[in-house]
Amino acid sequence: MAMESPSHTLVTLLSFVAISHTLLPLACSFPFSPNFPAVFNFGDSNSDTGELSSGLGFRLQPTYGQTYSFKPPSSGRFCDGRLIVDFLMEAIGRPYMRPYLDSVSTQSYRRGCNFAAGGSTIQKANAASISPFGFGAQVSQFITFKSKVLQLIQDDENLEKYLPSEYYFKNGLYMFDIGQNDLAGAFFNSTVDQVFGLIPTILNIFQDGIKRLYAEGARNFWIHNTGPLGCLAQVVSIFGRDKSKLDEFGCVSDHNEAAKHFNLQLHGLLKQLPQQCPDSRFTYVDIFSIKYDLILNHSHYGFDHSIMVCCGTGGPPLNYNNQVNCGSTGKLNGTIVTAGACNDSSKYVNWDGVHYTEAANRFVTLRILSGRYSETPSSLNL
Ligand SMILES: *[C@@H]1O[C@H](CO)[C@@H](O)[C@H](O)[C@H]1NC(C)=O
Ligand SMILES: *[C@@H]1O[C@H](CO)[C@@H](O)[C@H](O)[C@H]1NC(C)=O
Ligand SMILES: *[C@@H]1O[C@H](CO)[C@@H](O)[C@H](O)[C@H]1NC(C)=O
Ligand SMILES: *[C@@H]1O[C@H](CO)[C@@H](O)[C@H](O)[C@H]1NC(C)=O
Repeated sequence: MAMESPSHTLVTLLSFVAISHTLLPLACSFPFSPNFPAVFNFGDSNSDTGELSSGLGFRLQPTYGQTYSFKPPSSGRFCDGRLIVDFLMEAIGRPYMRPYLDSVSTQSYRRGCNFAAGGSTIQKANAASISPFGFGAQVSQFITFKSKVLQLIQDDENLEKYLPSEYYFKNGLYMFDIGQNDLAGAFFNSTVDQVFGLIPTILNIFQDGIKRLYAEGARNFWIHNTGPLGCLAQVVSIFGRDKSKLDEFGCVSDHNEAAKHFNLQLHGLLKQLPQQCPDSRFTYVDIFSIKYDLILNHSHYGFDHSIMVCCGTGGPPLNYNNQVNCGSTGKLNGTIVTAGACNDSSKYVNWDGVHYTEAANRFVTLRILSGRYSETPSSLNL
């Protein structure tokens, strides 16, 4: 795909989005647009705006969020600053998404609600899960949210100032970025063939959740595929000790192959879903290609490091936080160290071994907004 300068401002891209919306034939035109009255998001740490920290009652180390001051303050994002979903909200002139479990806030839920929680999987959570809020649980939270909201509005229509009405639910955008933790977790006790074998099961559960949302009236689905898992410093430091497991770019081949298989089957699923869900629109966003391009061509895009982390320490060669987590204090080689952040996170793609930096998230968002990495079923069917 053609290159584009990441220096384009969101404002420029916003007008691009507006223009393309009017020029493209209706069947293919599904840009990320301010026309959606509300946005409902489901996922993992890639789009968690504070859900897991609210739900489990913890605060991340202050190095998290050091690059950007949210108002009201948020220490619940697994990043030095803004996430892709934050930049997407900026692009359509919306407030950052409020987490479903955020019980105290000056912000309302009128423009949507974020159910994504760090560590979440598509598969049901178990005792070993980081997040108890698997995809099915997130969908159930949404259904509870919707029925309570509509009841409240029915009892007092003044509440429409603060809560999404039926129209907002029906015409809202439903966004998804989930699956990475299912694959990452499976590799800890399975062979690569077993991981491949698990993918149809994972996607069946995903499909069930989509159908439950469709039954609730959701019609506009915006689905991010999964990124190049094998290029995350955590994966490289654990599974890449045997150098024969690495590709020429330093990423773990098996993990990236699994991510590609997942995406291939997700793509196949999104071709079938519109037939099973009349009157719906699905957009598939190729996050894998955007992130892989960023990692492989990072110096071309102004980044000095693609796999090495900005925050956390574990010593050479990757400086991955497999020994002392980002912002924490611990023992490294017999010495007590505090794993601080690098001086300039904008030169790093990877923040803490698992999550991308704000600079990387900005890059990815600009690519998403270009529209060139998205497909709707009509173009999928070609
Ligand atoms: C991996 O562990 C999970 C439980 O954590 C278990 O359900 C699964 O069967 C295990 N898979 C293999 C291949 O051992
Ligand atoms: C890296 O950039 C080159 C052009 O500069 C492009 O041909 C190539 O596809 C890019 N790599 C990826 C993974 O996109
Ligand atoms: C830990 O100590 C060993 C032996 O002195 C040394 O080779 C290694 O580089 C040290 N690791 C770190 C992260 O400092
Ligand atoms: C940050 O910059 C200071 C001053 O240039 C330098 O002394 C320090 O080692 C740098 N820290 C890191 C983590 O690169």
